[in-house]
Amino acid sequence: MDRMKGKIALISGSATGLGAAQAIRFAQEGAQVMIADIDADLAKETVSEIENAGGSVAFVRLDATDAASWQAAVAATVDRFGGLTTLCNNVGVTPLSSIEAQSIDGWNKVIAINQTSVFLGMQAARGPLIAAGNSAVVNIGSLTALRGMPGTLGYTATKGAISAMTRVAAMEWVGDGVRVNTIIPGPMRTRTQAGITEEQERLQRARIPMGDLGLPVDIANGALFLASDEARYITGTELVIDGGWAASA
Ligand SMILES: NC(=O)c1ccc[n+]([C@@H]2O[C@H](COP(=O)([O-])OP(=O)(O)OC[C@H]3O[C@@H](n4cnc5c(N)ncnc54)[C@H](O)[C@@H]3O)[C@@H](O)[C@H]2O)c1
Repeated sequence: MDRMKGKIALISGSATGLGAAQAIRFAQEGAQVMIADIDADLAKETVSEIENAGGSVAFVRLDATDAASWQAAVAATVDRFGGLTTLCNNVGVTPLSSIEAQSIDGWNKVIAINQTSVFLGMQAARGPLIAAGNSAVVNIGSLTALRGMPGTLGYTATKGAISAMTRVAAMEWVGDGVRVNTIIPGPMRTRTQAGITEEQERLQRARIPMGDLGLPVDIANGALFLASDEARYITGTELVIDGGWAASA
């Protein structure tokens, strides 16, 4: 119940999906949670779910590609809850394209949303995270950073970068009381999966040693551990949550 007691978390892209699951789990464990998302309507259900369960939650509109929006979201969190101990860079989109069909606009968009957002989030949150001490950043990467998956060049570029950026941030802040880690999810049941066919899902399941896709709460539980003081000696690394896919032949 109290694994996140005293923690104040800002989670990007947390109106739905994996980010919402993180917000719900963190609140269950006593954190005060700022749901930060570009889609205010989508966030309402998640905010209500946390409130109805007696959790402490607020919403701020965030365009994670925009530096000023990040500054405002961090300021809103500090105003509302008195500080910031936990940043989850969760926001991400998954556009698919072959290399030959990839447009430059599409490329720039996925880099902005998935990768630049992580830089901007860490830059905006740095001061309050250091001021709070015992702080943590959890960046959400992807299995595509470890496995070559056709059609994911832009997406994979961002997710490989997130793992690398995590190591840099971890080393820059290792003496400042801020740990930085990446979670590497395999396929999870969120609306992202709604875009794939039954046959594609069957093929995914066949690749997963545990036999099925993960649930958002599986990622949330990993994020909870890395964000909590239980992970006090862990920084600059990756936690793979993928039903065994990365370990398979
Ligand atoms: N679902 C999976 O199978 C899977 C697998 C590996 C990695 N991931 C990663 O997990 C993260 C979450 O994925 P998901 O499946 O929950 O996605 P999702 O589409 O369900 O949710 C993404 C959220 O981000 C918000 N968002 C989009 N653009 C934004 C912006 N510019 N600023 C602020 N918010 C914005 C959306 O409104 C939405 O609430 C992503 O980084 C994704 O790459 C997901």
